[in-house]
Amino acid sequence: MLKSVFSYDSVELSTNGREVIILDQTLLPNQEKFLHLTTSEQVFFAITLLKVRGAPAIGIAAAFGVAMCVNRFKTKSVDALEKEFLRVKRYLSISRPTAINLMWALNRMERCFYVTKAKIDTTDKNAVEVIKNALIAEARSIKLEDTRMCLSISENGFSLLSPGMGILTHCNAGHLAVSRYGTALGPIYLAQQKGYSPKVYADETRPMLQGARLTTYELMKAGIDTTLICDDMASVVMSQGKINIIFVGSDRVAANGDAANKVGTSTVAILAHYYGIPFYVLCPTSTIDFNCPDGKGIVIEERPSYEVTDMYFSKPCAPEGTKVYNPSFDITPSNLITGIITEKGIFKPSELKKLLEVDGKVH
Ligand code: MRU
Repeated sequence: MLKSVFSYDSVELSTNGREVIILDQTLLPNQEKFLHLTTSEQVFFAITLLKVRGAPAIGIAAAFGVAMCVNRFKTKSVDALEKEFLRVKRYLSISRPTAINLMWALNRMERCFYVTKAKIDTTDKNAVEVIKNALIAEARSIKLEDTRMCLSISENGFSLLSPGMGILTHCNAGHLAVSRYGTALGPIYLAQQKGYSPKVYADETRPMLQGARLTTYELMKAGIDTTLICDDMASVVMSQGKINIIFVGSDRVAANGDAANKVGTSTVAILAHYYGIPFYVLCPTSTIDFNCPDGKGIVIEERPSYEVTDMYFSKPCAPEGTKVYNPSFDITPSNLITGIITEKGIFKPSELKKLLEVDGKVH
């Protein structure tokens, strides 16, 4: 069993359900500051500005956000509560476009709203409280289930590791990006606990430096041997035989196994194919979008130019007015993916549909 390596989670709902508490990831690694969010606008901007980020963490933050806003809404009328619920849901659903977990979590909250409403007498004086409590409980279950999924993903990924392995990862798909433990980094924590001494190479992940700022921060906190490389050095470490396996996360996996993840992931996959290194995508089944036949259907977020030209430089690194293209994600074609490691097992991309055959649904 994977022990928690941290004393905190990156996203939490306060005990009274009136605050969403997040670790501001934009300040890492220099400052650990927790923000207490109490409005839909604060949650929206925390997601948009990457204060909370990583596909599962975004979904959890949105679920907590909608539960918190509805809980704070003063009314005795179920109709008024419903209007507020739908307003917040619609608003948060457009905070980021690529991670399917966001819509998945919000749709689950909507189902909870209507299932609860259908079960009660909406004219009863406690009706509003019953719905509020049901939403809070549902949001907490989303987080708890994500933690359980991360544990199973960690165990499934760990089964592919052996002592002393070199593992390359891109972006941050660790504790910070989920409820707890991580997807791509989960097996690495388990390997460390079991005395395997994994050696991790973290791509810095231009332009927002999730690898340099976040992956190194959390792996080093756990005492894991971590080496930071610039994205364009991945080929060098692969050619030198330092990398035995590649673990990355995903924001959305299409039905055919094409996987969207932080921009630069497909470059790593192409290099891995060239050097014959196994390339795995680790994600919960809630990240698989069976309504999306292939990667062409996945919306790629485009982010502002200053992230490329100014964000982490003391002076701008490009002339003022430089034309910038800043796609935040890319699609790794399924033929470059060795396997998709989920909480339900390890699947070849072509086998993903088996998940549907088991119980007709994956989540
Ligand atoms: O823009 P970000 O930092 O939210 O991008 C995050 C990633 O690309 C992660 O790899 C992905 O969300 C999986 S997190 C378990």
